Amino acid sequence: MASLLVRNIHLLAQVHASAPALVRGRAMAHIPSLENAWLLCENGRIHSFGAMDTCPERADTILDATGRMVLPGWCDSHTHIVFAAPRDEEFVDRIRGLSYEEIAERGGGILNSARRLQAMSEEALFTAALGRLEEVIGFGTGAIEIKSGYGLSVESELKMLRVIRRLKAVSPIPIKATFLGAHAVPQAYKQDREAYIRLVIEEMLPQVAAEGLADYCDVFCDKGFYTPEETDRILEAGLKYGLKPKIHANELDYSGGVQAGIARGAISVDHLEYCGPEEIAALQNSQTLPTLLPSCAFFLGIPYGPARDIIDADLPLVLASDYNPGSSPSGRMSFVVALACIRMKILPEEAINAATINGAHAMELGDQCGSISPGMAANFFVSRPMKQLSELPYWFGSDPVEQMVVQGAVWSRNKTS
Ligand code: NIG
Ligand code: FE
Repeated sequence: MASLLVRNIHLLAQVHASAPALVRGRAMAHIPSLENAWLLCENGRIHSFGAMDTCPERADTILDATGRMVLPGWCDSHTHIVFAAPRDEEFVDRIRGLSYEEIAERGGGILNSARRLQAMSEEALFTAALGRLEEVIGFGTGAIEIKSGYGLSVESELKMLRVIRRLKAVSPIPIKATFLGAHAVPQAYKQDREAYIRLVIEEMLPQVAAEGLADYCDVFCDKGFYTPEETDRILEAGLKYGLKPKIHANELDYSGGVQAGIARGAISVDHLEYCGPEEIAALQNSQTLPTLLPSCAFFLGIPYGPARDIIDADLPLVLASDYNPGSSPSGRMSFVVALACIRMKILPEEAINAATINGAHAMELGDQCGSISPGMAANFFVSRPMKQLSELPYWFGSDPVEQMVVQGAVWSRNKTS
């Protein structure tokens, strides 16, 4: 089958002899790289790489990367790209002074997205979400997780998850699906939230599991949303169906969500804008990955999560985009990496490790994506002319991706649809 050779690569970043383990603590400041290198892909996978004096002579397609870097595709482990409509009117309300929580309390926010999604056909949702998937592949994303959570009824949660299943079927990059029925409490259940929790546990979860629609189970465990006790019940029920937890926690307060996720063995706890010594100590005694979402903090004007403290505590930091219409209407991972450096004060290498190897592990895809290693999916990008990794976050307003390669072939937007 087809082979692709990239020659004269100024810097081939994140090279490993075999699939790397999570990177934690001090080790995050290092990215193994090769200068003046080549990279050969065969049958959609990375075959081999080396220094230019050993470069193979032939391949079906040859790219020249003189003066450019090659990096593994971003591994975006937290998104909500299936949604019906933008929420720019709430964005303007926030400019006028309302907070994210005030908008949510008035029935805006997630409930606004749910109303619009309930009214939209599966077909139209699929087309819109496919467009966003193609958009982020063009931004260099090589693997992605996608959540439900704007359905908030049995029918609409299943509709969202079926859209994600259809995306999986056509996507050239790996996708993981997460069931987030407990994203908010619908208006009709405000006086009886217990009835909604029972709906999630007794009706949604069994159907999601019966159709094999999800890989993970999520809950928005935070002030004004779900309590740690409610979260625990939902996660326990999800585990009975084989769905590992991967949750939203501590975006709005020290909610106990980090500890609730850890107690149920969550793959990751995500957001963590409110994350102090107690949360960090709990993470240190667990296998759960701390995921920060800096473009959400940027867009909502809330505190940035403590990336520096997390790395200094010898933990494996993960970065993701949280692409969604309410709190992060951007899926551009290179901007996430830049924000983490600029506002969270972590080194470019630390941010890139968090958005590649560790992001892959946060989707249990560490053996397929996130590094340049033989056997990995050949999902990577050739940068525009750049000499070193620090230029990537430095040019924060520019798109670093000159050419995206997916499954060993140069990717262009009209290929998927
Ligand atoms: O990750 N925090 C909860 N859920 C999403 C956004 C929800 C929304 O506002 O639509 C998030 O920020
Ligand atoms: Fe989110």
